[in-house]
Amino acid sequence: MLVIAIDGPGAAGKGTLAKRLAAHLGLDYLDSGSLYRAVAWRVIQAGADPADPAAALAEAKRLDPADLGRPDLRTERVARAAAIVAQSPPVRTELTDFQRRFAASPPGGKGAVIDGRDIGTVVCPQAKAKLFVTASAAERARRRTLELQGRGEKAIYAAVLEELEARDRRDMERAVAPLVAAPDAHVLDTTDLGPDAAFTAALEYVTGLSAS
Ligand code: C5P
Repeated sequence: MLVIAIDGPGAAGKGTLAKRLAAHLGLDYLDSGSLYRAVAWRVIQAGADPADPAAALAEAKRLDPADLGRPDLRTERVARAAAIVAQSPPVRTELTDFQRRFAASPPGGKGAVIDGRDIGTVVCPQAKAKLFVTASAAERARRRTLELQGRGEKAIYAAVLEELEARDRRDMERAVAPLVAAPDAHVLDTTDLGPDAAFTAALEYVTGLSAS
């Protein structure tokens, strides 16, 4: 099965790129961050603490795919809680199994594009195409601020930057499946690349692989 693994820190442009690659190549797309967010959202709804591993695991076990598209998963509060539940190894095992099942039998049957933090390193280390999409923290914070403001949320650049950097640290320093580029990943720095240029560069890399 063709799997394109896309990893990188928040607001680097992974989601936009992954969706576009999937649509262009006729593959199914899975946003693995939405799994962690859905678990975190359910923990919050249940009035439990995201740092309580038992509460997080219980919600991971009853993950409902229908929750994944909920707009209320996209808030900063849920993002923060997602990075906390993501530190728990049993939660990761549960969600990794979900992602591997998707990669092995995507709904369309042709292949999958999965984005996240550990797709090329842990979830699908055998994926032939691996991209690590990154950008400077300042540029990512600028984009996230505009995105939040575009949704009518109050967002102050300095606070967004601080939040992103705290989440980067949490994702990079955790003991299990930390955010890191796989040794065989193609690194795409989008600091100075717009969405079209990033898509062109990624498509060149992917089609170059199948030609080789
Ligand atoms: O990508 P997104 O911002 O939606 O991810 C939310 C959080 O979920 C991340 O900060 C990270 O802690 C966690 N996550 C993860 N592994 C993934 C995807 C997301 O740990 N594959």
